[in-house]
Formats: sequence, C-alpha cells, structure tokens
Amino acid sequence: MGEDILELYPDPGRKHRLHGLYLDQSPVPGSSSDGRPFIYSNFISSLDGRIALPAPHRNSHRVPPAIANARDWRLFQELAAQADLLITSARYFRQVCNQEAQAELPIGSAPEFDDLRDWRSTQGLSHQPDIAIFSASLDIPVEALNQYRDRRIFLITGAAADAEKLAAIKDASPVQVLTCGNGIHVDTSTLREKLAENGYQRVYAIAGPSVLHALVQGKALDRLYHSTAHCLLGGAAFDTFLEGTELSPVVNMPLQAMYLDTRAPEGAGQTLAIYDFSE
Ligand SMILES: NC(=O)c1ccc[n+]([C@@H]2O[C@H](COP(=O)([O-])OP(=O)(O)OC[C@H]3O[C@@H](n4cnc5c(N)ncnc54)[C@H](OP(=O)(O)O)[C@@H]3O)[C@@H](O)[C@H]2O)c1
Repeated sequence: MGEDILELYPDPGRKHRLHGLYLDQSPVPGSSSDGRPFIYSNFISSLDGRIALPAPHRNSHRVPPAIANARDWRLFQELAAQADLLITSARYFRQVCNQEAQAELPIGSAPEFDDLRDWRSTQGLSHQPDIAIFSASLDIPVEALNQYRDRRIFLITGAAADAEKLAAIKDASPVQVLTCGNGIHVDTSTLREKLAENGYQRVYAIAGPSVLHALVQGKALDRLYHSTAHCLLGGAAFDTFLEGTELSPVVNMPLQAMYLDTRAPEGAGQTLAIYDFSE
C-alpha cells in the first residue's frame, strides 16, 4: 500500500502510509510520570455530525455503512493495539445477545490484523487488551462475556448500583467490580486512580456518546481521534459523539495533527484528526 495519506497539520504536504499511521506516526503516549493512565477515544462521523443512525429491522442504532470503511477500521484497530484496557459499555453486550453488535471487540481476529497482535507481543503487551464495561443499569447478559474469558473483565459502576444485580453478575461471571462515585452512574473523576491501581497505562474508550460525556466531565479524557467522512447523511434520529448535559466551562481540545485520506469512503474521502485535552 502506498503513501496515500496527506498530512495537513502540523507538517503540511508530508505523505504517509495508512498502515502504521496511528501506531508509528502518531502513537498513543504512555502513562505520565505520576502513573496517570492515558485515556483516549475515537469516533467516525459524517460532515453533518452523525455517528449512528437507526438500523433497518433492528432495535438499535449502528454506524451507517456510508461512513464505516476499512481504512478507518484499520486505524481503530491500531489504536486498540496500543491499549492495555478497552472501555466499552453494557449496551455492547446487550447487542451481542441480540445479534446486533457490529463487530467483535478489538483486536479483530481477521488475518489482516495479525501484524497488530505480533506488534503487541514485541512490545511485551498481553495478547489482547483487557475489558472494562460501564453500566448503571447492570443489565448485562453474562453469557455474552464468555467469548472474552481470556481477558480480565471489569464492571465499572456507581456505588449506589443495585447490590442484588451486582452479586448475581459476580456469581455468574469472572468480572471484577470497580465503583466510581456515589450514584448509580460512573463518576469518572476517580477513574484514573482506580485504573492505575490495577496497573493500566493506556486506556481506549470505544463506547459511545454518553460514556464519552462521562469521561469528559470527570476530566478523564486525554485525546480524541476523530475521522470525518466527507459526506452528508441527514436523518432525524441520530447519535452524535457527545451526549449529556451542557459542558460548563467548555472543554478545549486543540488540534495536534490532521491528515487527508482521499481513498475512503469512495467518492468522498475523510479527514483524520487528533485533538488533545487542554486545561
Ligand atoms: N461512529 C462511531 O465512531 C461510533 C463509536 C461508538 C458508538 N457508536 C454508536 O453510537 C450509538 C450509541 O452508542 P451507545 O448507546 O452504545 O453508547 P453510550 O451512549 O456511551 O452508552 C452506552 C451505555 O453505557 C452505559 N453508560 C454510559 N454512561 C455511563 C455512566 N456514566 N455510568 C454508567 N454507565 C454508563 C449505559 O449502560 P446501562 O444502560 O447498562 O446503564 C449506556 O446504556 C450506537 O449505535 C453505537 O454503535 C458509533
């Protein structure tokens, strides 16, 4: 594959290969000197800001096929390859049970990602990143966790979450429970220290807009990778990548890098941007 990614910022005109763009060119930093884990997330959206639309014949939303593309998916897998922990949500496991999940949790088992598993092994990382599940409802079909029994699985919830449901999940599955905050929802202001206590350094949030909001609100997001597919989707019932109360003060995320990929989605192209949290 050729050098077909054009850097727009900070060094306009440089060309890069897609493979390795986020692994080698813009790698995820490790934890800071005080042991704070580095927490990052990514989204692909359309020009009109949609990350998901209702899926035909399903109860749930999905990433629209018009914007989902293999090149962005490769970058998603490169970000996962660098993680020691993934943050996902109970919603994902409910979708798995309903056969509505769009993909297995990364790193994907397809041969095209063999190089990423090899890369993890050369870095001394575990075969696959561990898993943390955000849930307030504790409505988690434990049978959907079985496929991930080779990884450590954490359930992260609030201290006021339903104790009976929690006990039932602990009895029926290998999950370890972490509580953050006193309500039923996760208050992420103590998340970093809980994850650091458990040895995590690079934490990749692959959940959706309300998990992202919780992370931002608790100052538990360091970096956002954002792909914008250059097309318009419309639609009235859509998700955007941040959902929750208005942020006050607003959160500044200055641009760190931006690239142009003209090859996907076909006929549209996409920009690939990296933003870091700034106090
Ligand atoms: N285009 C993209 O890049 C992209 C990326 C990610 C997701 N998506 C799409 O976006 C859509 C919406 O995503 P989503 O509903 O999965 O994500 P979400 O809005 O982040 O919420 C998912 C679940 O996470 C749990 N949760 C969220 N915040 C929490 C908190 N503070 N404390 C405890 N639990 C919390 C809740 O579980 P409980 O209900 O169990 O309490 C909630 O139902 C989906 O269609 C998905 O496919 C698109």
